[in-house]
Amino acid sequence: MSIKIKNRELIIEQVRVSQIAQAYPTPAYIYSRAKLEKNLLEWPSSKDGQNALFCFALKANDNLELLKIIAKNRFGADVVSGGELFLALKAGFSPERIVFAGVGKQADEIRFALKENIKAFNIESSQELELIHSWAKQDNSKANIHIRVNPDIDAKSHPYISTGLTQNKFGIEKQDAIELAKLAESLPFVELKGIHVHIGSQITEISPFEDTSQAIRELYFELINCGIQIENIDLGGGLGIEYRNIKGIYPGDDNNTQLTVNDYLQAIRKHLQDLPINFIFEPGRAVIANTAILLTTVLYIKKTRTKKFIIVDAGMNDLIRPSLYGAYHHIFPISNMDRCEEEVVDVVGPICETGDFFARDRLMPALETGEQVAIFSVGAYGYSLSSNYNGRCRVAEILVDNTNFRIIRRAEHYEDFLKLYNEV
Ligand code: LLP
Repeated sequence: MSIKIKNRELIIEQVRVSQIAQAYPTPAYIYSRAKLEKNLLEWPSSKDGQNALFCFALKANDNLELLKIIAKNRFGADVVSGGELFLALKAGFSPERIVFAGVGKQADEIRFALKENIKAFNIESSQELELIHSWAKQDNSKANIHIRVNPDIDAKSHPYISTGLTQNKFGIEKQDAIELAKLAESLPFVELKGIHVHIGSQITEISPFEDTSQAIRELYFELINCGIQIENIDLGGGLGIEYRNIKGIYPGDDNNTQLTVNDYLQAIRKHLQDLPINFIFEPGRAVIANTAILLTTVLYIKKTRTKKFIIVDAGMNDLIRPSLYGAYHHIFPISNMDRCEEEVVDVVGPICETGDFFARDRLMPALETGEQVAIFSVGAYGYSLSSNYNGRCRVAEILVDNTNFRIIRRAEHYEDFLKLYNEV
């Protein structure tokens, strides 16, 4: 196990996290290379004669060094902007392994992707289809497209990250997908290659994936009945992870209910494996979330008549998931982990918002001012959602590789704030 407790200390690969805390300032994101590579290997690119392309969702994490590792491990990329496309190309993902999603693609982004000849645009509206067609015509190229379908299936996740209900802005309603497919077939500068679906994120039950696969199967045959044969079925991302019971972190805790990659792929294949298609998947969180911690230092401990606040040096600008979704992240000291005393506390950051918290009314080991704690499972939607709010610099990202560790993206400093003004 790459992130574990040994001799009452948190260890990443062969490095004590306390060593890293001595070498570099906190807060810092710290990743395990071995854990990332292990996760990547869980996604097999062919099975029973059907091929699968796994396109890592860059929105989960866009660190260039990590992306290079992901690209080297047979993965493609799922991008949602020109900026992500730019980074994916820089990281070495080949264009024929890049899919482009998003409800609001802009003309310059479409032209950029056409020029690079990406695998497919996952289109989300008829107007977008027409715009892509007109630019493909103008640039004398051909755009490969997948139609993103909204199957009206509840992902049973947080409402902010559920995307597969018809009240959500995403995709084309199933009833309209056939008409749009016919339109696409009639346009000379686009080529309809497949269907796409993505119903949400942090999905921890198998049934929404099964229902989605079944809905896509029905659509596949409706298309066949209209004389339209597709090559690809892109099933999006969404596989959730276990944030609470982390194996090896709570000593002796094997109560891990996480759906495995294998469970997930099997459940989908069960419904679709007889079809002559290639699969595409777009995992983000399941690949990278559990490869990283956010290391932070306890600045102050403040006891009021109603609460005890542990004030740490990381804030909601560094990790917004608890503030935005009420998301749970396990938090634990990095040393002397077997201390006996426990107390109920709020772990909060320095930002001037009451919503700036990492834990509320949580039973934690008693902490001391000046010590470091780790916030777990922050590799996905951690750094990528960070900001400069309250004039705070984005923190460093560090990669542990066996016995070594190094900075893979430096922390910002105040002069970085001036960069954008200097060129005006
Ligand atoms: N494909 C599409 C079209 C997506 O919109 C997403 C995520 C993914 C793939 C990857 O999903 P994953 O495998 O990571 O679940 N900020 C939220 C998550 C937002 C997800 C947005 N779309 C969070 O921190 O939980």
